[in-house]
Amino acid sequence: MVLGKGVLVKNKHKEDMQLEEYKMKLIDKNRLREVVELQQYVYENLPNKEVLYIDSYEDMLGDLENGAKIIGVLNSKDRLIAYRYISFPREEKRNLGYDINLPEEDLKKVVHLETTVVDPLYRGNGLQLVTLEKAKEIAKQEGYKHFMCTVSPYNFYSLYNVMRGGLKIKALKKKYGTKPDNSDGLWRFILHNDLDKKYYNPVDLVLSKWANLEMQKSLIDQGYIGYEIIKDTKELSYIKVDEAYA
Ligand SMILES: CC(C)(COP(=O)(O)OP(=O)(O)OC[C@H]1O[C@@H](n2cnc3c(N)ncnc32)[C@H](O)[C@@H]1OP(=O)(O)O)[C@@H](O)C(=O)NCCC(=O)NCCS
Repeated sequence: MVLGKGVLVKNKHKEDMQLEEYKMKLIDKNRLREVVELQQYVYENLPNKEVLYIDSYEDMLGDLENGAKIIGVLNSKDRLIAYRYISFPREEKRNLGYDINLPEEDLKKVVHLETTVVDPLYRGNGLQLVTLEKAKEIAKQEGYKHFMCTVSPYNFYSLYNVMRGGLKIKALKKKYGTKPDNSDGLWRFILHNDLDKKYYNPVDLVLSKWANLEMQKSLIDQGYIGYEIIKDTKELSYIKVDEAYA
């Protein structure tokens, strides 16, 4: 089933840029190899490998069999050029709801926005955001409402897109380590969007430079949430809201 279609600019910043039609479809396990290959290709081309936590074929397969979904973007030749992987962790320990103290009964309504990758030839078409909007539509129809993800503080493009998609920063901590306290893990923002929440009620607002992690950590510890990124100045606005969890 086609979830959406449109036209992309391929090679946007090169002289040989061209328009190309794309289709968005759910990818089933028969095409999982293509997903893993695209992930590997994108990973190999990353200047900072810390920003992408790689999912294995086996983990993704197990997850797909458990209801996870992969929204794929296919070019005019039916080649996979981007995907967004979403999963539904329910009571599993990995549920990011635990990191922000979501009430127990809400954990089953959590959607994880796992990996998104876009082939470098097709970047600049907003595919990260397009697939995020589609993921929201699908998950909402199925009764989920808490959208959560982790983003590396060093991944400005991804952080910008995810926050444009409505997710707010609720925590900054190390994740994906081998030790129980993740002290050997990677720094990650934890972002959250409750689809039922239409507005926040700020009692204070502070700006922080994007790269100033210490200041952001301290603001989060004081109960602020990261609200918006200002692209031009690379600043983040942090607001304080007077609620138990926001
Ligand atoms: C993050 C990512 C998915 C964004 O791709 P996208 O949706 O095509 O990005 P956008 O359309 O929002 O790009 C906006 C602008 O930033 C640029 N841009 C996007 N990603 C970039 C990158 N990794 N490096 C340099 N520039 C990048 C685009 O070229 C575009 O520039 P323009 O406005 O001058 O044309 C993509 O960069 C990527 O696959 N990164 C590696 C994997 C990753 O980090 N995934 C997210 C964590 S799971």
